[in-house]
Order: sequence, then structure tokens, then C-alpha cells
Amino acid sequence: MSAHPDVREVLLTADRIAARVAEMGARISADYRDREPVLVGVLDGAVVFLADLMRALTIPVRVDFVKWSSYREGATSSGAVQLLKDLSLNVEGQHVLVVEDIVDTGLTLRYLLENLETRKVASLAVAALLDKPSRRQVEVQLDYVGFQVPNEFVVGYGLDFAHRYRSLPYVAVLKPEIYGG
Ligand code: PRP
Repeated sequence: MSAHPDVREVLLTADRIAARVAEMGARISADYRDREPVLVGVLDGAVVFLADLMRALTIPVRVDFVKWSSYREGATSSGAVQLLKDLSLNVEGQHVLVVEDIVDTGLTLRYLLENLETRKVASLAVAALLDKPSRRQVEVQLDYVGFQVPNEFVVGYGLDFAHRYRSLPYVAVLKPEIYGG
């Protein structure tokens, strides 16, 4: 299959992602045996990873979502973000596993973890498909990581540029003329 014409380079093929997600699913299933965690997907980017990861699990789970306003657009001077869509489930006393597509600066995850900690969860952990450690501004603990990626603008498998490219089945770097880089 040829890549999208706006793509400069495919970093992670669909097959490689599928193999890694299967491994992550096996590990999470073993770690959470005898528990029924709540998977919390962070909209919008995490939907593809969450959809595949949950089907790679052999344990029962419940699934819920949150959505933040992006601090990249219209953030206040404090850098604070707002919760646009809160959880539907009450997670007090529950084992919560946050599912993210990518951790970049770490700011989104820090807000979410601080928010979840106030809800008296039984445990809190994070599964991220992609980790871009070179961009980190705040320290966050990632319990399950699929791949580390270089400091490039990546799209596909849920990740967007201007709301496009989320449906690509692989993770890729766009041509610089597309994003103006
Ligand atoms: C992306 C991604 C993470 C966040 C990571 O979301 O899904 O939630 O950025 O970046 P950070 O570590 O620098 O906070 P984005 O705000 O692009 O929204 P989207 O998921 O709707 O694309």
C-alpha cells in the first residue's frame, strides 16, 4: 500500500503497531488480572489506540472518555485547560487506566492525572502508544509505552494535523510544506 501523498515518511507501519498493541494488551491483562479497570480515553486522538487496545485485553473493562480544551489554542495565561467532556462513570474506588495516543509536553496528562487524583480512585496508571520525551515540560509517569518517537510532527493512527490524517492506519511524518515547517 502506498502512503498518503502528504506523507514524507512512515515511522510505524500498521503491522508494527498491531504487534506492539498486542504485547501491551497482554501485559496490561496480566497486571490487572482479577480487576476490572476503567479505561479512560482522551479524546480525540486516543480513539484508535483505545479501540485496538481494549480488544487486545483478556480482562473485563469499562470504557469512558474525557476531552480537554487544547492549551495550544486559546489557553489562558496560566496555561490552564478546561475539561470539555467529563467522565460519565463515577470512578471513586476504581482502578483507572488512562489511554493516550501521545505524550508530548506532558501538560495534558498532568492536568488529567491531577483531576483524577481528586476523585479517590483506587489506582491510576497510564498507557500511551507514543512517547516524545524530547518535548517534555512536566514530569509524568508512563506505565505502558508503545514506542518512543523523535521530535517530529507525527500523524495517523488517531493523531491529526488540523483535524486531518487521523484515519491513516500507520504513524507518519508529514512533508514540511504541508504543515509549514
Ligand atoms: C494530543 C494528544 C494528547 C496531547 C499530548 O491531543 O492526544 O492528548 O496532545 O500533548 P501534551 O503532552 O503536549 O499535552 P490534542 O490536544 O492535539 O487533541 P486531539 O487529541 O483532539 O487531537
